[in-house]
Amino acid sequence: MNRKKIIMGNWKMNLTVPESTILIQKLKKEVPVSTKAEVVVCPTFIDIYSASEELKGSNIKVGAQNVAEEEKGAYTGEVSVLALKGFVDYIIVGHSERRNIFGESDKIVAKKAEIAMRHDIRPVICVGETLHEREDKLSKVVVLSQLEASCKHLTGEEIAESLIAYEPVWAIGTGQVCSSEEAEKMAEHIRGLIKSLYGEKVSGSVRVLYGGSVTSASSKSFRKSKNIDGLLVGGASLNHQEFAAIVKNYGEKKK
Ligand code: 13P
Repeated sequence: MNRKKIIMGNWKMNLTVPESTILIQKLKKEVPVSTKAEVVVCPTFIDIYSASEELKGSNIKVGAQNVAEEEKGAYTGEVSVLALKGFVDYIIVGHSERRNIFGESDKIVAKKAEIAMRHDIRPVICVGETLHEREDKLSKVVVLSQLEASCKHLTGEEIAESLIAYEPVWAIGTGQVCSSEEAEKMAEHIRGLIKSLYGEKVSGSVRVLYGGSVTSASSKSFRKSKNIDGLLVGGASLNHQEFAAIVKNYGEKKK
């Protein structure tokens, strides 16, 4: 199955509009145009419009970090999929920071994944266990139950178009990167669950990403992982040289 590699930068809530403009200008110069991988940056909502304008005609796409679960209406402070449509190709849903800080349940994540897909924007469905769950040897159970519940409104065809990001919570922002062997094993479990629920064709098409303290140095170790098709990068994506180096190190190699 030919799955295109992808490197996504999740800028989280770290940049102002002028700062993100500067970063985009630098990335346009630095990210190799030759890359065979898809490259995506996910700015905050207020930066999305300008980012999508500035990146027009480049090989860098734009994604959103979140979306409202409802399409329209009296939801003060929320940003709807209709507002994002036309400006983003991807929407991250169920990031552990959304789940853990803002109390998003699998049910909410499933609605967000569904609403994105209904508007032809690919959801990047995030799953991952906490340190506590890992220590209790519950990683696989937690990740697979989050995944099954978060995908529940999507058809097999839609799952095949979606992305699943394995982001162990203990590896996010901690500098403690999950070994590529361990991440590969989880990606295999993820693909196994998708196969049992939606069949082989879907499990062979869905792209699985790893995220958690990825740097240009550690990105190399994921190149050989058979079941991992991309990286979701937080802190290191805020530095143009680091992010471009990740694209070079990880994205250049053909499968
Ligand atoms: P870090 O790369 O900063 O650990 O963040 C990972 C992440 O949460 C990406 O969504």
